Amino acid sequence: MPKKLYIQTYGCQMNDHDSERMAGLLAPDGYLLTDRMDEADLILMNTCSIREKAEQKAFSELGRIQQLHRQRPDLIVGVAGCMARQEGAALLTRHPWLKLVFGSKQIDQLPRLLRETTASGRPVIAVDDPLGEAPSLPAHRKGNVRAWVSIMEGCENRCSFCVVPHSRGRERSRRSEEIVREVTELARQGYREVTLLGQNVNSYGRTSDEGVDFAGLLQRLDGVPGLARVRFTTSHPSAVTDRMIRAMAELPTVCEHLHLPMQSGSDRVLERMNREYTIADYRRTIEALRAAVPGLTLTTDIIVGFPGETEEDFERTLEAATSLAFTGLFAFKYSKRPHTPALELDGHLDETVKTARLQRLLTEQQALVQARQRALVGATHEVLFEGPSQSHPGWLFGRTRAADQLHVEAPASLIGQMRSVIITQLRAHRLEGALA
Ligand code: SAH
Ligand code: SF4
Ligand code: F3S
Repeated sequence: MPKKLYIQTYGCQMNDHDSERMAGLLAPDGYLLTDRMDEADLILMNTCSIREKAEQKAFSELGRIQQLHRQRPDLIVGVAGCMARQEGAALLTRHPWLKLVFGSKQIDQLPRLLRETTASGRPVIAVDDPLGEAPSLPAHRKGNVRAWVSIMEGCENRCSFCVVPHSRGRERSRRSEEIVREVTELARQGYREVTLLGQNVNSYGRTSDEGVDFAGLLQRLDGVPGLARVRFTTSHPSAVTDRMIRAMAELPTVCEHLHLPMQSGSDRVLERMNREYTIADYRRTIEALRAAVPGLTLTTDIIVGFPGETEEDFERTLEAATSLAFTGLFAFKYSKRPHTPALELDGHLDETVKTARLQRLLTEQQALVQARQRALVGATHEVLFEGPSQSHPGWLFGRTRAADQLHVEAPASLIGQMRSVIITQLRAHRLEGALA
């Protein structure tokens, strides 16, 4: 009898992909994915702890799953990912009915941990931080056009606000030939695009003795037969090298898009955040990228209301966000995280101040993003069709190389293929197009 597995995923793309890997690892043991929690034999929550809100969501979901567990005590429930490692044994103290607590670096051990708890009936916990090389794992992927590929895990940086170095542990990279092998296999199966994942992709290789850096990895992947597009996330501004810029400029597969978190436009705040660049450095990096890569689009992350952020600091962020012309901006209110140095800083701000600043930033940014979208109407771009459009029955959804999202009137037979598309109009924040 096949058993049913339900996975609830929170957080970033790395977590999304880790969930695909959990499903891939458990498939040989007879676990089939279900999208109905109430019919599952095994429920795994893959959690995020980047901000307090993410954690609250997971805890309230855990409450709901506990109700289900009361009715069905044979149900096995596990908590994985960043909250699992952050909370560790404390989670089991609060929720003794849980059977598994494991961090993102223990995903490879999941089948064994599951057998252990099934055999003993007791909870198992695994949240240590192994070093060395990141393993290659099978994955049960969601789509069949674009695929996530993990290239490194953890983070060696120490941004003062960020829980990731604690929740994901030390940085480790996968061997380049294993990444190339995985991507080659994906292309052979028909995937056209890969997104390379890591907290700090452009410091790829810095902890390994292989001697292949991020630019070197991009170069190796560029030769994979059948692969059309390579994207990656997230890059750190201080680790953008000339070699990386050259790779982005010269390699045909590497798309003209970069997500480069700025966090703040004020040097005083950047310093207190321990980001290791000034806003002038950040601007220079962007200028160099734009000069080398025509048509490059940039998206960014910004934290507002960091401890000690003055009105003037915030104005600098607004100014930088406006003048740097991002095509997308993810803004967050600073959230206190356990084990982070920013907790000790003075000048923690009121929630009302943070909310007002977030609102101002988002309002200004929305207008800019829309103006840019309007300017795209009439242009022709190569689009990779990923699947049906959710907003337009009968149409397809796809992305340009610069990561603009389009809804296009096109037949389903084009899914997985690339075509020239003319952008016809902007409607309700969505760009629409037609085959050119
Ligand atoms: N590794 C990436 C991003 C990690 S987390 C990087 O180096 O930028 C994704 C985003 O969450 C961050 O870019 C940051 O903007 C935001 N973030 C991280 N910690 C936060 C906190 N304590 N409060 C609010 N936002 C936070
Ligand atoms: Fe967090 Fe900074 Fe590492 Fe990104 S680079 S994961 S923000 S510590
Ligand atoms: Fe969240 Fe962990 Fe990703 S804290 S954002 S799931 S690395």
